[in-house]
Amino acid sequence: MPWDSVKLNDGTSIPSIAFGTWTLGNGQTPIDQIDQALSIGFNHLDTAQSYRNELEVGIALRESGLSRDDVFITTKYSGLNGLDIETSIHNSIANLGVKYVDLYLIHHPRLATPDIPTAWAKMEKLKEEGVVKSIGVSNFNVQQLQILLDHAKVKPVANQIFFHPYILETQAPIVEFGNHHGIISEAYSILTPLTHQPGGPVDAPLKSIAARLNAKPEQILLAWAKAKGVVAVTSSTKKDRLEGYLTAGDLELTTEDIAAIDAAGLVGARQRTTRQVVQRFAVASLVGAAVLGLCGYMGINVL
Ligand SMILES: NC(=O)c1ccc[n+]([C@@H]2O[C@H](COP(=O)([O-])OP(=O)(O)OC[C@H]3O[C@@H](n4cnc5c(N)ncnc54)[C@H](OP(=O)(O)O)[C@@H]3O)[C@@H](O)[C@H]2O)c1
Repeated sequence: MPWDSVKLNDGTSIPSIAFGTWTLGNGQTPIDQIDQALSIGFNHLDTAQSYRNELEVGIALRESGLSRDDVFITTKYSGLNGLDIETSIHNSIANLGVKYVDLYLIHHPRLATPDIPTAWAKMEKLKEEGVVKSIGVSNFNVQQLQILLDHAKVKPVANQIFFHPYILETQAPIVEFGNHHGIISEAYSILTPLTHQPGGPVDAPLKSIAARLNAKPEQILLAWAKAKGVVAVTSSTKKDRLEGYLTAGDLELTTEDIAAIDAAGLVGARQRTTRQVVQRFAVASLVGAAVLGLCGYMGINVL
């Protein structure tokens, strides 16, 4: 297996690449796509209550013929239908048709109600009961992780965060904080430079590194994430892409490759900030001109 498992701070292990079900929808299609991922070697499924396809994950798992222990299942407390953490995990277990989930995450800090310590104590209880093997969080920043650690009896094993080269500057400190405290970072939407921000500065290093290694740009991004020490949470509807994701675990990026992607990511982030400032200035100027025009029309002298 090119992507090794990573040891977590509670003694369990997590496969370092996951197949995510966020965008798959419901019905037979996601079942087939999850089946496809399992059949080519993915052994980590990442779902959430809000993705509304835990049922499909469970069906695909049973159809795969794999034993429960062979597949690592993550689901997330998403506050679906206003239900609490305990009720929600029991619904997830029933939907998935399993006796336990490997990892249960609080999907977002805003769901940690009435506050982070109280919500986390509920997660700790579920781990104690054995209904979940490990507990963690998602989308927590450093400050929120610190609040959690200040009150936790059991440390979170993982924090799943948005992570790609254009946001490295803001997200790297979260990864570093996690490393310092034994909390693994899981990265989602790593392929954003290809899917949502194509044409940016990261394209050039991706293209040249991919050409040199006879690989695809998406494989280079996944290899970059692996080099950053995060667990990759990705997805694809296409078999050949999924196979490529798995073999990306064997790609050896040089220090220069990683530095080139980091630097291009930073340039892209700066360009985006400048664009946003210019856009805000343009909108403010237009609003100002409109207000002045209106005042003039109404005979109000504001100058
Ligand atoms: N915790 C959270 O808040 C959170 C938030 C978002 C996501 N997630 C998790 O992370 C998983 C992955 O999220 P994501 O879908 O945003 O991840 P991603 O890995 O960045 O993107 C996957 C998508 O990239 C497309 N793709 C791959 N190579 C491409 C290329 N060369 N050009 C254009 N498109 C390409 C694939 O399309 P094809 O299907 O066409 O191959 C696929 O739809 C989710 O399913 C979910 O489990 C968690």
